[in-house]
Amino acid sequence: MKIMSADYVISAVGPKQYPEDGFAEIAFIGRSNVGKSSLINALLNRKALARTSCKPGKTQCINFFDINKEFFFVDLPGYGYAKVSKEARATWGKMIEAYLKERDKLELIVLLVDLRHSPSQDDVYMYNWIKHFERPVVVVATKADKISRGQRAKHVKEVKEKLQLHPGDKIITFSSETKDGKEELWQYLQEYIYPE
Ligand code: GTP
Ligand code: MG
Repeated sequence: MKIMSADYVISAVGPKQYPEDGFAEIAFIGRSNVGKSSLINALLNRKALARTSCKPGKTQCINFFDINKEFFFVDLPGYGYAKVSKEARATWGKMIEAYLKERDKLELIVLLVDLRHSPSQDDVYMYNWIKHFERPVVVVATKADKISRGQRAKHVKEVKEKLQLHPGDKIITFSSETKDGKEELWQYLQEYIYPE
């Protein structure tokens, strides 16, 4: 994938602020610290584009990035952050629900999980929620460089089993350190950005 431009557009706190260009959208979600910003930066060959301008536990927002003036990457607020209040959790839920429910041009959700650990209960909820809204999803297992090649299949199996991954859903291992999985993920994303 050739990246001609990658520009931050807006940190939206509600649907009224979502861009209306009608571009295809790929959204990224996962628990806090899973490596979401690192993955977005790795895909776009940038060092610090996807720094979140909204701190976890404070204002939560949905960050839109315009790629090649053709499609959007959407950075959804992370979950599982320990210090989040009940109210913040509820706001997060409403925000994500509104986005998953209503966004017409959302073509694919990239759900990030940490390859090193069995998916958390929050990861399982998130996967089920995405399926509930009947959104296409690809699971990306991050930090693959921390697991030796010989051990990876075992970890992938654990992720699949814990999530009860549907047979049609793909899982890709990824490392922002080594860029392992980058080409495979781009290939997959492009099928949704430029459908036949
Ligand atoms: P929040 O936005 O704070 O919720 O985190 P995030 O999901 O955006 O994670 P971020 O990309 O900031 O990465 C969190 C930490 O994990 C950082 O210290 C990264 O350097 C590290 N990290 C991310 N991806 C990888 C990876 O593929 N391999 C290794 N070894 N470390 C990674
Ligand atoms: Mg981040």
